[in-house]
Amino acid sequence: MEKLWSGRFEGESHAWIDAFGASIDIDQQLAEEDLICSLAHVKMLAKTSILSVGESNEIIEGLEKLLEDNKKGHLVFTIKNEDIHLNLEKLLHDDIGPVAGKLHTARSRNDQVATDMHLYLKKEVIEINQSIQLLMGVLINKSEKNVETILPGYTHLQHAQPISFAHHLLAYYNMFKRDFERNQDSLKRIDISPLGAAALAGTTFPIDREYTKKLIGFKKNYSNSLDAVSDRDFILEFLSNSSLLMMHLSRFCEEIILWTSHEYQFVTLTDAFSTGSSIMPQKKNPDMAELIRGKTGRVYGNLIGLLTTMKGLPLAYNKDLQEDKEGMFDTVKTVKDCLTIFSSMLETMKINESTMYTATTKDYSNATELADYLANKGIPFRKAHEIVGKLVLDCIKKENYLQDIPLSEYHAISELIEEDIYAVLDSKTAVERRNSFGGTGFKQIQKELMNANEALMDMKQV
Ligand code: ARG
Repeated sequence: MEKLWSGRFEGESHAWIDAFGASIDIDQQLAEEDLICSLAHVKMLAKTSILSVGESNEIIEGLEKLLEDNKKGHLVFTIKNEDIHLNLEKLLHDDIGPVAGKLHTARSRNDQVATDMHLYLKKEVIEINQSIQLLMGVLINKSEKNVETILPGYTHLQHAQPISFAHHLLAYYNMFKRDFERNQDSLKRIDISPLGAAALAGTTFPIDREYTKKLIGFKKNYSNSLDAVSDRDFILEFLSNSSLLMMHLSRFCEEIILWTSHEYQFVTLTDAFSTGSSIMPQKKNPDMAELIRGKTGRVYGNLIGLLTTMKGLPLAYNKDLQEDKEGMFDTVKTVKDCLTIFSSMLETMKINESTMYTATTKDYSNATELADYLANKGIPFRKAHEIVGKLVLDCIKKENYLQDIPLSEYHAISELIEEDIYAVLDSKTAVERRNSFGGTGFKQIQKELMNANEALMDMKQV
């Protein structure tokens, strides 16, 4: 079969080399975008009288038919036609004849493929942001129910100070809010049309880029044709934003995996999100959380892969750029799947409040309370720290806790310690009293929840 660009060639092509150069297996995902952009292009060619109305109508009809057939999954692509652009052009030619050859006037596959990807990514980033909003909603909901659920806060994975579980959840809410905002901001650079840049230098035809831009629904046109066809920053930015998002999901998953373990038992996942073992009958493994944590690696890989592909490319188009798609498609699917699975896993996750609370009563996470108590009574904090440190050491040896020490013993250490110390040492009081701005105190959390709800409403209006 003859290639669409066969004119300059004499030698035979080889199937195995064609297969290596082809991208149809991957880029057929852009079929709809390609047809939409072709429709805009041919309408523009008619408007500017580059094609006659009759010619353009024939092409439009053919493209619309292809669009329909594509929706039904009826289009058959072949590796012999290399990529989605040439496949669709060939199918159009088979249907409407030689007039199909006029579609490619004043256009190149270079601006065509870039335009398709901008259009594709715009749709996907908007959808991903809707999924992030859903997750943020789940986090707010769960937080509202767990303001007074107390668990140990950790540093170095050691019990540090008691905190509210809502505070912990809202930390993630903030991360996902930033992810949402980053995606939203990236749309400024995704929502731009390269169409009309042609191969690299623009065209001698009197095209109307404003018109195609409007028809496709882009906000802006690229102002430099070389940049338009060789820029993949918008994909890299998407991969980078997705890497951050996956990192956040992965950290959260890691915590859930820890919390479901026998040592913690802070939460219980529903059976649907867990799997058993083929040999150990007792097992209930947090597979979905592990898999999300694991899939983070491939998203990072996609980012590093494309960065590396791009780093030595001279302007403008080079075939290397064909490698930009697989990682982008893979990241879109991975991120969407992970967000959906994670949101429902979190929504249905049971919180074992009493286990969480108990963990704060069989530890020394109230040591700071005692030190602060002494500092409040005028003892320099460094001195108070030392006194409490010694007490903790003593407790460890005696196998008891700060709240078990009788008042008489406290008096022996300092007359300043009074009966009210036991209320201060209670972990719930400890959380409640941490009322500095942004702290875990209940009043702070209520404020944070109010702001979070408002922010989510604002986002939904975007
Ligand atoms: N399949 C190609 C790609 O995805 C389309 C652009 C081809 N352009 C060219 N000059 N060979 O990059």
